[in-house]
Amino acid sequence: MPIDPNETRVSEWVTTVDTVFPNQVNPVGTLFGGVVLQWMDVNAAVACARFCRQVVVTASTEPVDFRNPIYVGEIVEVRGRVAWTGTTSMIVRCEVHGENPITGERRLCTIGHLNFVAIGEDGRPTPVPHLRVETDLERRHWATGERVRQDILRRRRPSADGDGPGR
Ligand SMILES: CC(C)(COP(=O)(O)OP(=O)(O)OC[C@H]1O[C@@H](n2cnc3c(N)ncnc32)[C@H](O)[C@@H]1OP(=O)(O)O)[C@@H](O)C(=O)NCCC(=O)NCCS
Repeated sequence: MPIDPNETRVSEWVTTVDTVFPNQVNPVGTLFGGVVLQWMDVNAAVACARFCRQVVVTASTEPVDFRNPIYVGEIVEVRGRVAWTGTTSMIVRCEVHGENPITGERRLCTIGHLNFVAIGEDGRPTPVPHLRVETDLERRHWATGERVRQDILRRRRPSADGDGPGR
């Protein structure tokens, strides 16, 4: 159903939990980055769908920093929340923690932003509600989302030689 673009909504954190199996590691024995990206993508898509109650597609993955490795047998917690909204797009902040199941020690391992677009019944981008930010933390996350948005716009601008988008 089309959204009233003047409507404002809050966004709730979505938390998904997994554990690392031996078939998910890279040659140095830690969780393969592509698996982390898939978990982040699904988590962020759910955060967006719950926020706008529309079908959403991934438009871009923005900087994703793999800060610490995650090991076999560890618990992986992915947390995502819509941090910024445009007209039809949403930027999700996604944080990934690794947790030792025995000691309970937790580390922030990956952090990134993903950009989604809501798709209407005609298959075209459709408006999303405006995100309502209420806390200082949400305001800081909005400001980070705004910087991510500016990077997206810079990247999509045609390059000086007219040869497609600039990078
Ligand atoms: C994302 C997609 C829907 C955008 O369609 P489009 O016709 O280019 O859309 P528009 O130019 O009207 O832009 C619509 C919104 O998308 C954003 N957008 C479009 N292309 C983008 C890109 N490459 N990166 C980031 N944002 C993008 C625009 O900034 C705009 O946001 P806003 O409404 O908040 O200002 C289209 O490119 C698409 O379908 N891509 C494939 C999606 C997909 O298959 N994802 C799974 C990947 S495996």
